[in-house]
Amino acid sequence: MSTATAENRTEPQDPYFQSLFAERIGGANYGKGTEIYKFEKIKRAKRKALADHPERKLLDFGIGENDSMAAPSIREKMQVEINRIENRGYADNGVAEYKEAAARFMDRHFGVKLNAATQINHCIGSKPAYAMLPACFINPGDITMMTVPGYPVAGTHTRYYGGEVYRLPLLAENRFLPDLDAIPDDIFRRTKLMVLNYPNSPTGGTAPAEFFEKVVKLAKEKEFVVVNDAAHVMLTFDGRPTSFLETPGALDVGVEVHSMSKGYDMIGWRMGFVAGHPLIVQAFADVKDNSDSGQFIATQKAAAAALDDDSIPEQIRAKYRRRMEKLVKVLKDAGFDAEMPGGTYFLYTKSPTHTASGETFAAAEDATRFLIEQNGIVTVPWDDAGSFLRFSVTYIAEDEAAEDALMAETAARLAGVGFQWKS
Ligand SMILES: Cc1ncc(COP(=O)(O)O)c(C=O)c1O
Repeated sequence: MSTATAENRTEPQDPYFQSLFAERIGGANYGKGTEIYKFEKIKRAKRKALADHPERKLLDFGIGENDSMAAPSIREKMQVEINRIENRGYADNGVAEYKEAAARFMDRHFGVKLNAATQINHCIGSKPAYAMLPACFINPGDITMMTVPGYPVAGTHTRYYGGEVYRLPLLAENRFLPDLDAIPDDIFRRTKLMVLNYPNSPTGGTAPAEFFEKVVKLAKEKEFVVVNDAAHVMLTFDGRPTSFLETPGALDVGVEVHSMSKGYDMIGWRMGFVAGHPLIVQAFADVKDNSDSGQFIATQKAAAAALDDDSIPEQIRAKYRRRMEKLVKVLKDAGFDAEMPGGTYFLYTKSPTHTASGETFAAAEDATRFLIEQNGIVTVPWDDAGSFLRFSVTYIAEDEAAEDALMAETAARLAGVGFQWKS
């Protein structure tokens, strides 16, 4: 029997390929980081809260996913399409049925007329589109402008290609619109992409027509491409949903990326589309064709049926509007500066700095941990541009009575805390 030597008692050796990892994911240090990410911290706080108070139910406003399945009609359509032999193969850059339904959707909701064959291409959910669009434009040293806080994927891939991200902070005092006048000219000179997202996640801000007009003018003058992330567009609460592509000249400067996830309860189905200037759509389709072989055709056909049925997003919007109105009231009563967002199922509100009992929070992350551990209330902190908490109304509640009971419990738990906000 061999005895353990000093050598084989040490930590496991790095594999021979440890030094081969690309710098973009950390190089030789890949996998050795000790930083704990926001969502892992939330998970840990949830585990602690459940261990400390097993009798107390967690009120989870942290979930960023729709709580319902896709509409029954769409699931039935999928059942039919899944059994058709012609749907079995590679979908490549997508079937005409979906592109045509997307063109009808853009026309009906926004009055934007698009050529389905040349100005629309599907994507396997919108997330991969943000990974692929930088591949179309970014060379080393080029800049992508990204709003912060926001959905980071296009920025991450910009960096993968050797580009840089220029952050455009979204501040409450500027109605969560970036200050375009504050961008220096030397930044514009290196900018290839500006990624916007309205209705905005997580701030809930919407963009007035004048803002989009200014963006189009600037894009032409400074020569960059605009990408508007419209993932939450069908969850617009202030007026009708609007598209960046409605803006005069927008089709000359960019594309808009749509998603079936939020507005159609189809998160797991992975469907979306890129629409706009034909040459940008073509470049996207070329990169996509070299990356994947398209979404399952049955899924595309079911998603086309969803796009043709406006009652689906109307019902989803009505549900989240109702839940949001209830939440705004509860939070206001507890002292939060909560307002109905322009869109999205997120309520983004200033994070408290203190409690009546003397607890202090240096950042939203601290307030989040306190709320989870002390009150069993889960939120997501944002500390990128001011300190804010994000409450999502995608919690599980089977009917309106269950929603009301959950709101009453939230109000009761918040009432005792005495949150305070000091500037
Ligand atoms: C702002 C925003 N954009 C894009 C996405 C990606 O959505 P999907 O890939 O499901 O289409 C999300 C999802 O959370 C989002 O919040």
